[in-house]
Amino acid sequence: MMKILDQIEEASPAISYAGLIERIEILRSTLRWSSRLERADIDKLLRQATSLRDEVMQLSHKERFVQAAVAAEPEERADQSRGARRKALLERSFIFEGTFGDNPRLLESLEIAEKAAPTDLPVLIDGESGTGKELMAKVIHANGSRSDKPFISVNCGAIPENLLESELFGHRKGAFTGASNDRKGKFESAHTGTIFLDEIGELPLAGQVKLLRVLEAHEIQRVGSDETIAVDTRIVAATNRNLRQLSEEGKFREDLFYRLSVIHVTLPPLRERRDEIPLLIAWFGDEAAGTLKRRPVRLTPRLRDFLLNYAYPGNIRELRNVMYRVSCLAGDMADVDHLPVDMRPAAPGSAAAAANAATPGQQPISVANLMSLSDAKRAASDDAEKAFLERGLREVSGTVAELARRIDMNRSHLQMLLKKHGLHSKDFRNRNMPPTSRNGADEGDEEESES
Ligand SMILES: Nc1ncnc2c1ncn2[C@@H]1O[C@H](COP(=O)(O)OP(=O)(O)OP(=O)(O)O)[C@@H](O)[C@H]1O
Ligand SMILES: [Mg+2]
Repeated sequence: MMKILDQIEEASPAISYAGLIERIEILRSTLRWSSRLERADIDKLLRQATSLRDEVMQLSHKERFVQAAVAAEPEERADQSRGARRKALLERSFIFEGTFGDNPRLLESLEIAEKAAPTDLPVLIDGESGTGKELMAKVIHANGSRSDKPFISVNCGAIPENLLESELFGHRKGAFTGASNDRKGKFESAHTGTIFLDEIGELPLAGQVKLLRVLEAHEIQRVGSDETIAVDTRIVAATNRNLRQLSEEGKFREDLFYRLSVIHVTLPPLRERRDEIPLLIAWFGDEAAGTLKRRPVRLTPRLRDFLLNYAYPGNIRELRNVMYRVSCLAGDMADVDHLPVDMRPAAPGSAAAAANAATPGQQPISVANLMSLSDAKRAASDDAEKAFLERGLREVSGTVAELARRIDMNRSHLQMLLKKHGLHSKDFRNRNMPPTSRNGADEGDEEESES
């Protein structure tokens, strides 16, 4: 019995459907044939089931990655080398951890990560806020030999300076007021695994000296203790600041900078990989739909246009948040008024607004990049449909049954169309009141009974 279990645990880490099915079969027969399960056996089975689940998720994730990328990339514009590079990574069982996109600069970062992952070399990741630095750190961890060991994340910018050393290296009881017990720090917790030092540029000089020592000697000292403790921890650091410049200004130790940045990965801001925006819109739209248990939201041409041209100071995080927001607020179709107020274009849809949103000096996006012709047609037809329905509702003062009769349409079909466009007949009931501009939070929730 335990022999079978042990075999499963040693199964090769490379994921394939055949391998998964085999492992599921072993699990099943283990359960079927064992007359008695000890507590330890049950724990082990549960662990295996969880790891199987993770791998199934990963596999399906990979599949979706390929599918969505193919869908978002019309054949005539398909870039052979990109596709080939992405596929090659997939074929080498590279774990993306949800990293999405196929911009050459992103692929390059992923390829560096792939090579760096199996080594213990320190990696420094830099990039603006929201460009995926933490995600990249997880990718490096997941693709290395430490993937089943802890990944410990420390935000050096979020810990008060006087507690930082104790957080990182631990302390001895009585080392300072409040240190009522011995405590181990993040480095010890990350022993045999990876420590992710986020916002490393915020680490005070005293902490930098100690960190240098860990990098050189692979040992730490708890605050208030002379004893050295060996730690085997892979270091991945991230920053949105220019560490080279900080070190020139004397705020960051140059020797530490060089030690940390043996492998240096820079993540480009989203506005410099605009070609990825359509893909990310589709991806996060689907993801949000899944989370919110709804159909993927559709975007009006106006909104799509805006999203394709916007400068994204908050990068991928901002785009992701926007897709979740509009998926939550909109009915079937999202428009610019579902955007957060501070993001909305000055005059929605105007070319000037779109141009303003784009980075100065950047080439305007050509029409070919905006959407396909069929998308444009469908969107225009949607707009026309909505305008028609609005006019109709105004004419009949919001009486859906009457409108259905006048335009000779089945009433439930008409209800469906209204819902699709987020139109509410009661907004048209009183001729003297203009239709309220609704933000859609309460959209699509009404089954109206008209008389
Ligand atoms: N290429 C990508 N594909 C899919 N999701 C991404 C990608 N890059 C980033 N994200 C998502 O965007 C969000 C922000 O990423 P992350 O936290 O890694 O950014 P960061 O660079 O660490 O930001 P900050 O500097 O603000 O801490 C996360 O939800 C992450 O999953
Ligand atoms: Mg981060």
